[in-house]
Amino acid sequence: MNSMSSNKSSNLSGTIIVPGDKSISHRALIIGSLVTGKVKIKNLLESEDVIATLNALKTLGIKIKKNKNIWEVFGNGIGNLCGSDFRLDMGNSGTGSRLLMGLIAGSDVEATIGGDESLSKRPMNRIIKPLMKTGAVFDDPSNNNLPIKIRGSKIPLPLEYNSPVASAQIKSSILLAGLSSTGNTTVIEPTLSRDHSERMLKYLGAKISTTKLPDSSWKINLEGLPLLKPLDIEIPSDPSSAAFPIVASIITPNSQIKILNVCVNDLRIGLYKSLIEMGANISFSNRREINGEPIADISAKYSILKGIKIPKSRVASMIDEFPILSVAAIRAIGETTMEGIEELRFKETDRIHAMSEGLRSVGIETKVKKDSMVINGKGPDYSINGNVTIKSRLDHRIAMSFLCLGFITENPVNVLDTDTINSSFPSFLEIMNKIGANLTHR
Ligand code: S3P
Repeated sequence: MNSMSSNKSSNLSGTIIVPGDKSISHRALIIGSLVTGKVKIKNLLESEDVIATLNALKTLGIKIKKNKNIWEVFGNGIGNLCGSDFRLDMGNSGTGSRLLMGLIAGSDVEATIGGDESLSKRPMNRIIKPLMKTGAVFDDPSNNNLPIKIRGSKIPLPLEYNSPVASAQIKSSILLAGLSSTGNTTVIEPTLSRDHSERMLKYLGAKISTTKLPDSSWKINLEGLPLLKPLDIEIPSDPSSAAFPIVASIITPNSQIKILNVCVNDLRIGLYKSLIEMGANISFSNRREINGEPIADISAKYSILKGIKIPKSRVASMIDEFPILSVAAIRAIGETTMEGIEELRFKETDRIHAMSEGLRSVGIETKVKKDSMVINGKGPDYSINGNVTIKSRLDHRIAMSFLCLGFITENPVNVLDTDTINSSFPSFLEIMNKIGANLTHR
């Protein structure tokens, strides 16, 4: 079991590029496999989660190869996967496992999907329930956890699904099944979750629309059997990975950094909006668009923060960033209130629990309820002793968040079982140390 130690840093500075976006990388591979022809993918995130999806697609018969720095996916067209007895090991990847279930639901394929200890505890009934309505058959529909055996149908039924939670994984899984349906597939979600699937499908030629309903929920409608064009896809840098160096530079005195080519899709940048409201000095420049996704360079510098209440409507757009926000909130003057965050309990670990335990270990009080958390910030001058050991709980974002905390503690913060960082940000240590952090393997 590998661990890392994070030591106090005097300042962070420099211009960096963080790896490609995880969500868009999964989608480029999966949607690429449905195109008729060759899709070239530039800047694919080569992390364990994405490689699990890549290997699963290869197992299902998709040819994928790397040519210099470009990944090439030789798509079979929509609904053309077939075969049975496949075993797909999705490791730690919730996105990979759930999206692949959608892909399989729309194909003549039978497969058993498994994952690591963390993924095997995460709820799957949220995907099973809607996919069964499209005609997919599950060995044991009451089984909420991986391993799960699923048999898809070549022509799934069109579905209108009203999702109780705003979840891009649920939405994307249903849309992927709906691609091979002869009719329209509709997903309604209470607030909009990340829309990378919709943007990529539209870019490749699908007819897909998003409308706001009178009750403020959102309706996404996809016409089945589109002809997807074999266009090149360039993956922007991941705003969820950029969040670590950005927050680190905001809380570490005398810091100033810039991160290039980051995806600034409005449904991903809730953390940045919240930090700006807290008083953080963050700016966006060089805005442009690549294959339907807005990107920009993001600059940040050391800032004095104040606590705020995060609007519930913003939660979905920063769903992966609460662990690193909780570290920023330690340095804020006053309380930071996070409500409507129950979904955090179903991530790689129960993040509400992991965040509050970690904060408590360095003397920060939190008030926790089933779906909320309040952090009592101690301001910029409070001396945090450190000298603590945090378990990653097989959660990459918990591991990286507490390593960032170590930049401002008097003594090291040690994080156990840091291999999990490879699921989203394999170069985390190198990139952070490049801007002046003091991270070491133990
Ligand atoms: C993801 C969706 C999010 C996020 C996950 C990646 C995706 O989950 O937490 O890390 O790529 O679809 P939900 O929107 O399903 O909560």
